Amino acid sequence: MIQKIINISKEAGEIIREGFGKKLTLEYKSNITDFVTNIDKEAENKIIEFIKKEYPSHNVLAEESGVDNRNSKYTWVIDPLDGTMNFAHGLPIFCVSIGVMKDSEIIAGVIYDVMNDAIFSAEKGSGAFQNSKKISVSENSDLEKSLLVTGFPYNIKENPDFAMERFNKFLMNSSGVRRLGSAAIDMCYVANGVFDGFWEVNLQPWDICAGMLLIKEAGGKISNFSNEQIDVYSKQLLATNNKVHNEMIKVLNEK
Ligand code: IPD
Ligand code: CA
Ligand code: CA
Repeated sequence: MIQKIINISKEAGEIIREGFGKKLTLEYKSNITDFVTNIDKEAENKIIEFIKKEYPSHNVLAEESGVDNRNSKYTWVIDPLDGTMNFAHGLPIFCVSIGVMKDSEIIAGVIYDVMNDAIFSAEKGSGAFQNSKKISVSENSDLEKSLLVTGFPYNIKENPDFAMERFNKFLMNSSGVRRLGSAAIDMCYVANGVFDGFWEVNLQPWDICAGMLLIKEAGGKISNFSNEQIDVYSKQLLATNNKVHNEMIKVLNEK
């Protein structure tokens, strides 16, 4: 299955690469910062066409077309283009993210970093890979020496939810904080040891499904801000190399 997911991620990535820098049609969703382009939709249609042909009995949960529940144990969780804002502005940081769940367990995940032509993949119990190379989280156990990454929710103007307070606290307690604009790419870079930790609120299952498996298979840890286990529906995500996890939890809960 994993090779098939890699192949279809690359096919969707090809559509995205072709569309990069071309004139786009935008459709606004909840507000002016929340929109979808014709390319998001084309990439998603390609992936769904593939699932209908190869795995017609499986359920689909896809960002742009929603839920197709076929009462299967298997659910494909799809973000056809994570980092749409970057894509639409010409910033080459975006990806295709596809996770597969069996009941509530994530069993496979692929993230295709389109402009770097890098495939991040994981199967439950078999480790995490960047192209064909095995990857693991960083060894650093000192938050002060950490490079962290975060994102801001699309509805931050209506619901700031302490985003700036958390950002400030981590700026003061780490070596640096980055904001790339693609949660799935952020998670790849925790899995391969570039970043030591990532936190964000109000993400969706398709933003994090594949990335959660990648990080776990690369030796990292995932929880909510209370250090409890989470599933893809959690509204808080902390993903780390494991070694700075408790320190990050402490910072998140400082008054
Ligand atoms: C967004 C990105 C971004 C995150 C937003 C997501 P999209 O996904 O992952 O990093 O901060 O919350 O909505 O809309 O580009 O697929
Ligand atoms: Ca997304
Ligand atoms: Ca998306």
